[in-house]
Amino acid sequence: MKRLLLGLVAMALAVSAPASAYAGTGADPAADRGGGRPPGDLRELSQKLRIHMGSAVDVTALAGEADYRAVLNREFTHITAENAMKWESVEPQRGVYTWDDADAIVRNAQRNRQNVRGHTLLWHNQLPAWLTEGVADGSIDAKELRKILREHILTEVGRYRGKVRAWDVVNEVVDDDGAMRQSIWLTKLGPGYIADAFRWAHQADPHAKLYINDYNLEWNTAKIDTTLGIVKDLKAKRVPIHGIGFQGHLGIQYDYPGDFPSVMRTFTDLGLEAAITEADVRMVLPVTPEKLATQADYYTRMLSTCAGNPRCVEFTVWGYTDRHSWVPGFFDGEGAACILDENLAAKPAYRALLGVRRT
Ligand code: G3I
Repeated sequence: MKRLLLGLVAMALAVSAPASAYAGTGADPAADRGGGRPPGDLRELSQKLRIHMGSAVDVTALAGEADYRAVLNREFTHITAENAMKWESVEPQRGVYTWDDADAIVRNAQRNRQNVRGHTLLWHNQLPAWLTEGVADGSIDAKELRKILREHILTEVGRYRGKVRAWDVVNEVVDDDGAMRQSIWLTKLGPGYIADAFRWAHQADPHAKLYINDYNLEWNTAKIDTTLGIVKDLKAKRVPIHGIGFQGHLGIQYDYPGDFPSVMRTFTDLGLEAAITEADVRMVLPVTPEKLATQADYYTRMLSTCAGNPRCVEFTVWGYTDRHSWVPGFFDGEGAACILDENLAAKPAYRALLGVRRT
């Protein structure tokens, strides 16, 4: 039964999208100029582009769905835990650590020759209630909060020392208007918390690549400017920051962010490596062939941006299947944001990605 299921999944992925699906994508797998045949899957594409091809992992699906697991492990060379490494997941009660889900994801990655992105050490969301409530009621003061943050980073990074290629050390610390995000970290600890977080992460794993990660950073100039300022400041202070993460949450109802290649270059010119860390391209439902073609175009342009920058090392999708995607739960009437559909069949975006070349 299991073999039959895997066979069906393989067949579904092997079925080419109609030729028209490539219209306007600028990516024709048949026109590979590298001499060889076009890559047959994302692992082969990863080898060809020398870019890690990643996906976020839903830990429940990983444990319970054989077809989900099979495709994840066959296609991807890099993974990010979608929720399992976040603070509320690993320390739901103060001092009580629950590593089972995160461990399972890391173990599965190791068995399947996948690198790991740790996500995320410091964020304003998905913090444990004991922490946010303690800060709100004053039982945790600033001095203690700093100690708690240090302990959290040393503990989590230390646990996965040598097993995580790159950490999203700080996530979404700049607001959409370009101001530093108002969070318990900024208000209680002041802006120095960012440098502290990087230093502690480096102390716990000196070989891990340490990233600042954000959404809308592909195009939002206010956010870009502030983030550039943060990076320059950290570099001037010799704080160990190594990477810039562009989340890449796009929607086809908005224009494609055409400046993304030059934005990425502005950061990599500072000596950072770059990654697209959470790519997905949502649409207003219902799905139509035209929308899928536009989605394929957006995906290929994002991957091409990475392929066009020698310092861009990773392209990770925020879930690879519409069966498990955060989008419908967050954007009313939107969905179908992933490269495979609910049945794990390849969408035009998947086939189009296979045609991306290094430029
Ligand atoms: O685990 C609980 C479960 O016990 C409960 O029964 C259920 C009922 O709602 O909720 C479950 O928690 C959900 C959690 O995902 C795990 O599935 C939360 O409600 C839900 O809000 C949470 O959403 C996650 C979201 O971050 C939170 O902000 C998404 O899955 C996750 O994809 C999303 O990921 C973020 C990145 O970390 C950072 N960048 C943006 C990206 C998309 O929002």
